[in-house]
Amino acid sequence: MKIWVLNGPNLGRLDLRDHSIYGDITFKDLTDFCISTGKDLGLDVEVRQSDSETEIVHWLHDAADQKIPVAFNPAAFTHYSYAIRDAVAMLKAPVIEVHLSNPLSREEFRHTSVVSGVATGTIGGFGLLSYELALRALANLTRKSK
Ligand code: DQA
Repeated sequence: MKIWVLNGPNLGRLDLRDHSIYGDITFKDLTDFCISTGKDLGLDVEVRQSDSETEIVHWLHDAADQKIPVAFNPAAFTHYSYAIRDAVAMLKAPVIEVHLSNPLSREEFRHTSVVSGVATGTIGGFGLLSYELALRALANLTRKSK
Protein backbone atom coordinates (compact mmCIF):
# COMPACT_ATOMS: atom_id res chain seq x y z
CA MET A 1 0.00 0.00 0.00
CA LYS A 2 1.42 3.32 -1.14
CA ILE A 3 1.23 6.21 1.40
CA TRP A 4 2.43 9.78 1.01
CA VAL A 5 3.73 11.79 3.94
CA LEU A 6 3.47 15.43 2.85
CA ASN A 7 5.11 18.25 4.78
CA GLY A 8 4.65 21.98 4.49
CA PRO A 9 6.88 25.05 4.85
CA ASN A 10 9.94 25.23 7.07
CA LEU A 11 9.81 21.56 8.05
CA GLY A 12 12.78 20.94 5.75
CA ARG A 13 14.84 23.06 8.16
CA LEU A 14 13.65 21.39 11.36
CA ASP A 15 17.12 21.30 12.88
CA LEU A 16 17.24 25.12 12.70
CA ARG A 17 13.87 25.62 14.41
CA ASP A 18 13.09 25.96 18.10
CA HIS A 19 14.49 22.79 19.68
CA SER A 20 12.33 23.23 22.77
CA ILE A 21 9.28 22.77 20.51
CA TYR A 22 10.45 20.49 17.70
CA GLY A 23 13.12 18.50 19.54
CA ASP A 24 16.54 17.67 18.27
CA ILE A 25 15.67 16.13 14.91
CA THR A 26 16.47 16.86 11.29
CA PHE A 27 14.09 16.48 8.37
CA LYS A 28 16.21 13.51 7.27
CA ASP A 29 15.56 11.89 10.65
CA LEU A 30 11.84 12.44 10.10
CA THR A 31 12.03 10.98 6.58
CA ASP A 32 14.03 7.91 7.65
CA PHE A 33 11.70 7.36 10.60
CA CYS A 34 8.57 7.45 8.41
CA ILE A 35 10.05 5.10 5.83
CA SER A 36 11.21 2.54 8.40
CA THR A 37 7.97 2.79 10.42
CA GLY A 38 6.07 2.34 7.17
CA LYS A 39 8.09 -0.79 6.34
CA ASP A 40 7.22 -2.30 9.74
CA LEU A 41 3.55 -1.62 8.98
CA GLY A 42 3.75 -3.02 5.45
CA LEU A 43 3.40 0.43 3.87
CA ASP A 44 5.35 1.85 0.96
CA VAL A 45 5.96 5.37 2.34
CA GLU A 46 7.12 8.32 0.26
CA VAL A 47 8.02 11.51 2.16
CA ARG A 48 7.89 14.95 0.53
CA GLN A 49 8.37 18.49 1.78
CA SER A 50 7.70 21.82 0.10
CA ASP A 51 7.66 25.46 1.08
CA SER A 52 5.33 26.19 -1.84
CA GLU A 53 1.55 26.22 -1.42
CA THR A 54 1.13 25.66 -5.17
CA GLU A 55 3.33 22.58 -5.18
CA ILE A 56 1.51 21.10 -2.19
CA VAL A 57 -1.89 21.73 -3.80
CA HIS A 58 -0.65 19.91 -6.92
CA TRP A 59 0.59 16.97 -4.81
CA LEU A 60 -2.82 16.79 -3.15
CA HIS A 61 -4.47 16.76 -6.61
CA ASP A 62 -2.19 13.87 -7.60
CA ALA A 63 -3.00 12.02 -4.36
CA ALA A 64 -6.72 12.49 -5.07
CA ASP A 65 -6.38 11.25 -8.66
CA GLN A 66 -4.39 8.19 -7.56
CA LYS A 67 -6.50 7.60 -4.39
CA ILE A 68 -3.35 7.61 -2.25
CA PRO A 69 -3.79 7.85 1.57
CA VAL A 70 -1.89 10.82 3.02
CA ALA A 71 -0.32 11.77 6.34
CA PHE A 72 -0.13 15.53 6.07
CA ASN A 73 1.68 18.14 8.13
CA PRO A 74 0.59 21.41 6.48
CA ALA A 75 2.83 23.35 8.93
CA ALA A 76 1.89 27.07 8.99
CA PHE A 77 -0.55 26.55 6.08
CA THR A 78 -2.68 24.65 8.61
CA HIS A 79 -3.83 27.89 10.09
CA TYR A 80 -4.87 29.90 7.05
CA SER A 81 -4.65 28.18 3.66
CA TYR A 82 -8.13 27.70 2.22
CA ALA A 83 -6.51 26.53 -1.03
CA ILE A 84 -4.93 23.64 0.86
CA ARG A 85 -8.15 22.92 2.74
CA ASP A 86 -10.10 22.75 -0.52
CA ALA A 87 -7.50 20.40 -2.02
CA VAL A 88 -7.60 18.15 1.08
CA ALA A 89 -11.40 18.06 0.80
CA MET A 90 -11.04 16.47 -2.66
CA LEU A 91 -8.94 13.51 -1.43
CA LYS A 92 -10.54 10.12 -2.00
CA ALA A 93 -8.54 8.06 0.51
CA PRO A 94 -8.07 8.79 4.25
CA VAL A 95 -5.94 11.80 5.22
CA ILE A 96 -4.50 12.32 8.69
CA GLU A 97 -3.43 15.82 9.72
CA VAL A 98 -0.25 15.49 11.74
CA HIS A 99 1.80 17.91 13.83
CA LEU A 100 5.04 17.45 15.74
CA SER A 101 3.98 19.97 18.37
CA ASN A 102 0.56 20.50 19.90
CA PRO A 103 -0.66 23.67 18.16
CA LEU A 104 -3.43 24.07 20.74
CA SER A 105 -0.89 24.61 23.51
CA ARG A 106 0.97 27.30 21.54
CA GLU A 107 0.19 30.84 20.28
CA GLU A 108 -3.45 31.65 19.66
CA PHE A 109 -3.08 31.89 15.87
CA ARG A 110 -2.13 28.19 15.89
CA HIS A 111 -5.38 27.22 17.62
CA THR A 112 -7.25 27.42 14.32
CA SER A 113 -6.82 24.64 11.77
CA VAL A 114 -8.63 25.17 8.49
CA VAL A 115 -7.61 21.62 7.55
CA SER A 116 -8.97 19.59 10.51
CA GLY A 117 -12.58 19.85 9.34
CA VAL A 118 -11.81 18.00 6.11
CA ALA A 119 -9.22 15.54 7.51
CA THR A 120 -10.11 12.01 8.58
CA GLY A 121 -8.40 12.75 11.90
CA THR A 122 -5.75 14.90 13.55
CA ILE A 123 -2.72 13.91 15.63
CA GLY A 124 -0.33 16.37 17.28
CA GLY A 125 1.98 16.88 20.19
CA PHE A 126 4.05 13.70 20.13
CA GLY A 127 7.06 14.64 18.00
CA LEU A 128 8.03 11.86 15.61
CA LEU A 129 5.54 9.59 17.36
CA SER A 130 2.78 11.77 15.85
CA TYR A 131 3.89 10.52 12.42
CA GLU A 132 3.99 6.90 13.61
CA LEU A 133 0.46 7.22 15.00
CA ALA A 134 -0.72 8.77 11.72
CA LEU A 135 0.84 5.92 9.71
CA ARG A 136 -0.70 3.35 12.07
CA ALA A 137 -4.09 5.02 11.63
CA LEU A 138 -3.73 4.94 7.84
CA ALA A 139 -2.62 1.28 7.88
CA ASN A 140 -5.67 0.46 9.96
CA LEU A 141 -8.14 2.54 7.96
CA THR A 142 -6.96 1.28 4.58
CA ARG A 143 -7.03 -2.36 5.76
CA LYS A 144 -10.60 -1.87 6.97
CA SER A 145 -11.71 -0.26 3.72
CA LYS A 146 -10.50 -3.26 1.63
C1 DQA B 1 3.56 22.34 13.00
C2 DQA B 1 2.80 23.36 13.84
C3 DQA B 1 2.52 24.63 13.03
O1 DQA B 1 1.83 25.56 13.84
C4 DQA B 1 3.83 25.27 12.59
O2 DQA B 1 3.58 26.38 11.77
C5 DQA B 1 4.75 24.30 11.93
C6 DQA B 1 4.85 22.93 12.43
C7 DQA B 1 3.96 21.10 13.81
O3 DQA B 1 4.32 20.10 13.20
O4 DQA B 1 3.96 21.14 15.04
O5 DQA B 1 5.49 24.67 11.01
O6 DQA B 1 2.72 21.92 11.94
